[in-house]
Amino acid sequence: MDALTSLNPQSPQTHAIFTLWIVATVVLGAIFVIVAGIIVYSLMRFRWREGEPDPEQVAGNRKVEMIWTAIPLVIVIFLFVLTARTMSFADPAPPKEPDLIVIGHQWWWEAQYPKSGAIAANEIHIPTGRPISVLLDSADVLHEFWVAELTRKMTTVPGHPNHIWMQADRPGVFIGVCSEFCGTQHAWMRFTVVAQDPKEFAAWEQSQLAAASQPTGEAAKGLALFQQMSCMSCHAIKGSVAAARVGPDLTHFASRKQFGSGIADNTPENLRSWLRDPQNVKPGVKMPNFKLNDEQISQFIAYFETLK
Ligand code: CUA
Repeated sequence: MDALTSLNPQSPQTHAIFTLWIVATVVLGAIFVIVAGIIVYSLMRFRWREGEPDPEQVAGNRKVEMIWTAIPLVIVIFLFVLTARTMSFADPAPPKEPDLIVIGHQWWWEAQYPKSGAIAANEIHIPTGRPISVLLDSADVLHEFWVAELTRKMTTVPGHPNHIWMQADRPGVFIGVCSEFCGTQHAWMRFTVVAQDPKEFAAWEQSQLAAASQPTGEAAKGLALFQQMSCMSCHAIKGSVAAARVGPDLTHFASRKQFGSGIADNTPENLRSWLRDPQNVKPGVKMPNFKLNDEQISQFIAYFETLK
């Protein structure tokens, strides 16, 4: 997995933003060096010396004043034009129907693929090589969607969807974070963007559309528990009666590499600690402690492992 950095752009959009940043940094750096240089030079060259008379006193110089007004004006106009061009390149008008709807929740991300109906959580797959239009919304408070290498930041505002373009030039797993403080577990509102070759992406999307198969043995007991306890009032599993949309859709839970929005790798041991007491693993998480016994936890794990 790549690190979270704006200095390694992997899409045309982030390349444009990165280039703008470089140009601005060079221009502003040069201004700093010139101004600071002149100040230091003047301090040394014109400092007071024993026995020297006061220098000639000057007040007002129209020519010099015009020059030092004109030069900054040109620089500001240059940076403004460059910024406006970058903005219109990285952020063209959104299409009627987005490729992806991403909804921020305290503290996880839901991804809906409106064209196919697929739903994912915290692991957002996209095809490489083309711009993906992303509509961003929130289920509760302000969050901020940020995949540093692939797109700019964008706030998710409840009831006021925002739009961005996201693109990956190569396959890979890119890290994303929530970059606006949104409560206790803001730091663990991480996600990944899995960029795949379009064919692989299509296969993934197909696999996510399938309903969960009917489990047997231990796993069937897990499903029965899932339906008896109040799991269903928050989670959905296609193919069962659970259809709530408060927490992550678990239909393909086992296909995800992590759970709890990046807090743990999706292994049976981690899942056991989570089910024993989610509040201990991720304090403040909306999932309560159901005080499950070891046998029940094993049945749940057996069931979840079938949710490929
Ligand atoms: Cu969501 Cu910070």
